[in-house]
Amino acid sequence: IEQRVFKNPHAPPVVPYLFPFFGSMITFGLDPLKFFRENQKRYGDVFTFLVFGRNMTACLGPDGNNFFFNAKIAHVSAEEAYKSLTVPVFGKGVVYDVHNSVLMEQKRFIKNTLSQDNLRAYVPLVVEETMQYVERWSQKQGDVDIVQGMAELITMTASRTLFGDEIRAQLDVTIADLYHDLDNGFTPLNFLFENLPLESYRRRDAAHIKLKNIYLDIIKKRREAKIQDYSDAISHLMECMYKSGRPLADEEIACIMIAMLMAGQHTSTATTAWSVLYLAQQTELMRELREEQERELGGMDTPLTFDGLKRLTKLDDLVSEVLRLRPPIVEILRKVVRPVEYPGSGYVIPDGHYLMASPAITQTDPAIYRNPEDFRPARWQEDARKTSDAAEKGAAADDEVDYGFGVMKTTSARSPYLPFGAGRHRCIGEPFAYMQIKTILATLVRHFDFALPKGLPKPDYTKMFILPQDPATVRYSRRQ
Ligand code: HEM
Repeated sequence: IEQRVFKNPHAPPVVPYLFPFFGSMITFGLDPLKFFRENQKRYGDVFTFLVFGRNMTACLGPDGNNFFFNAKIAHVSAEEAYKSLTVPVFGKGVVYDVHNSVLMEQKRFIKNTLSQDNLRAYVPLVVEETMQYVERWSQKQGDVDIVQGMAELITMTASRTLFGDEIRAQLDVTIADLYHDLDNGFTPLNFLFENLPLESYRRRDAAHIKLKNIYLDIIKKRREAKIQDYSDAISHLMECMYKSGRPLADEEIACIMIAMLMAGQHTSTATTAWSVLYLAQQTELMRELREEQERELGGMDTPLTFDGLKRLTKLDDLVSEVLRLRPPIVEILRKVVRPVEYPGSGYVIPDGHYLMASPAITQTDPAIYRNPEDFRPARWQEDARKTSDAAEKGAAADDEVDYGFGVMKTTSARSPYLPFGAGRHRCIGEPFAYMQIKTILATLVRHFDFALPKGLPKPDYTKMFILPQDPATVRYSRRQ
């Protein structure tokens, strides 16, 4: 059934649907990438589809990415798109509960926390946590649910480095349950409905209050004890000041800590879990990574350091290839707050529509990447700028742009490779994520061989972050 929007002849084409209100919910929800590709073929880069009464306008391809990530805040808002999901979990006064200019300042605070000096200090801590974690594995061989395993390890390493020793000490006791309840309140359902009379919503709200109070208590105790020798994010944020001269309030620090947790936990878990799965599938990659450590670090007993990690470029390529083929975030959202023209098409996207970008589409476009469905880290050696063949097709190189959170290297929004987004909302966690993930993987390949007793799982698109489907079983054997 062909449907058209008659009210606004300039609106983008609409994907036909059978059931009003639900619209394309099922086909989109089960496999959004297939849905995007099929409709991109039919309608081009820009089209609208209905999900649960909401008009979603997809912006695909390099031009779609560029339009989406560079749209003016007068037209397009991230906070309007994300606040129903995030404010109950992160709390008030931070991230999407504040004006964009305040978010930019808060991002600068976080970015400065993740300084090179801090990252350097974190590497031995991540190694220690990883070794402590694998002590639980059997002496010779065993099977592990790699998603669950890496989720625990990411929580432990992030707590040990960023979230504070006090949080790390309580991980097995109370904090893990609170994280779990917050997670269950951070789902597509919570995006659609900010509040429902459901147990998961009640638990989400209770967990937010408890975790915030734990942080407030830590901050108070640190102030009283005048302890300053921490390299974690709490102590750093306690020193931060807005341009106006006002220091960050304790409540804001507590809520930023929760936001950092939610931003980094599943993204890094998914990336690490997929990395181990691909290493288990392509065992020659394990051999190459070990050879690289022998060559670059002078042996596999050499303690890992931040500078040593930088030389492990094949490991870097592995992580980048995971982020190309299995990016943890495949739908990025904004809400149109004032009608906005999509350049060169004649389309005007009405206010009230959500915009949806999916760099996963350009990252797997056969016109840009040769055999895009193949997992092949070596492709990055063929073009060091991580734009692969796209560089030849005229994609712009990296730009230096200042969005108010300090001049930072941000990938051009027209690049086909954007696992960390682009523009003013670009991720500031990338250096931390690479340090954390590379340290974990470099440690694991020193001590284990991996295999896949049940094959490589498919991605599960029904979650907020794209994790491998159950069962994601990896068989490990300790190396002598
Ligand atoms: C933003 C991906 C790790 C903190 C983003 C965005 C993406 C992303 C795609 C853009 C969202 C948008 O435009 O709406 C990832 C991936 C990660 C990762 C793939 C790991 C592999 C982290 C970590 C932290 C973090 C570890 C913090 C420690 C943030 C923050 C933003 C952000 C603060 C800014 C949100 C905004 O400005 O609206 N991330 N992220 N991320 N990420 Fe990450």
